[in-house]
Amino acid sequence: MYAKASSATDIEGMRRAGRLAAGVLEMIGEHVRPGVTTDQLNDICHRYIVNEIDCVPAPLHYSNSPRVPPFPRSVCTSVNHVVCHGIPSAKKTLKSGDILNIDVTVIKDGYHGDTSKMFLVGKPTVLAERLARVAQECLYRGIAAIRPGATLGDIGHAVQSHAEGNRFSVVREFCGHGIGKVFHDQPQILHYGRPGTGAAIEPGMTFTVEPMINAGRPQVKVLPDGWTVVTKDHKLSAQWEHTLLVTTVGAEVLTQRQEEAQAFRS
Ligand code: MF3
Ligand code: CO
Ligand code: CO
Repeated sequence: MYAKASSATDIEGMRRAGRLAAGVLEMIGEHVRPGVTTDQLNDICHRYIVNEIDCVPAPLHYSNSPRVPPFPRSVCTSVNHVVCHGIPSAKKTLKSGDILNIDVTVIKDGYHGDTSKMFLVGKPTVLAERLARVAQECLYRGIAAIRPGATLGDIGHAVQSHAEGNRFSVVREFCGHGIGKVFHDQPQILHYGRPGTGAAIEPGMTFTVEPMINAGRPQVKVLPDGWTVVTKDHKLSAQWEHTLLVTTVGAEVLTQRQEEAQAFRS
């Protein structure tokens, strides 16, 4: 079964978790600068999530396979050619020109809010800036395709056509997901596809869209730590993520940040 918020309690719970997750990304922005380590950013997020907003950081000790050790930190930090699931480290010091994704998932009263954004550290290269912008546009186009009666393939097609139209590529091995009281639920939200294919989108569904867009080829590999996903060609990758609630007319962006106040007007 797909993740759904059917009762007013569920919808309010998901709104609250989403708003709190967005607030973590708003809080951390001023700390992202050359010289900071990704472990320091993790610690700031962890303390804020636990002490200030009284939530549980869902990634900490999260496991989805008995063959992989549980995730050891509270957020994911993915720098440059790291596609996703980067592990914060005291050895990873940010420098000017780096691009960084911070992926936050909080649990509030049992409900999950999952969101990520790209940060440009210091002075970005032209390519890095364009990749991060196009990846964000891919997320927004995916969201714009959401309405009852559309299909999951419409979302994937919207993302893929924009990425490839800009001569970038879409990672296939990881996808968005249903979310609610469960972190990673059905359905899978592929970031590629053909219009009109796949399951129908229905009001009440709650899922993420989280395209990973590569500057070079789409292929990725997982490092021996069992988590860190990198591009095989070591070229840059960018990702943005929101948690969505399907309404009767479109999508409500549960993890919208203040800086996006104008982004989702239709
Ligand atoms: N937040 C990621 C997602 O968007 C999942 C991270 S799982 C972790 O689905 F264990 F790596 F943290
Ligand atoms: Co997610
Ligand atoms: Co996430």
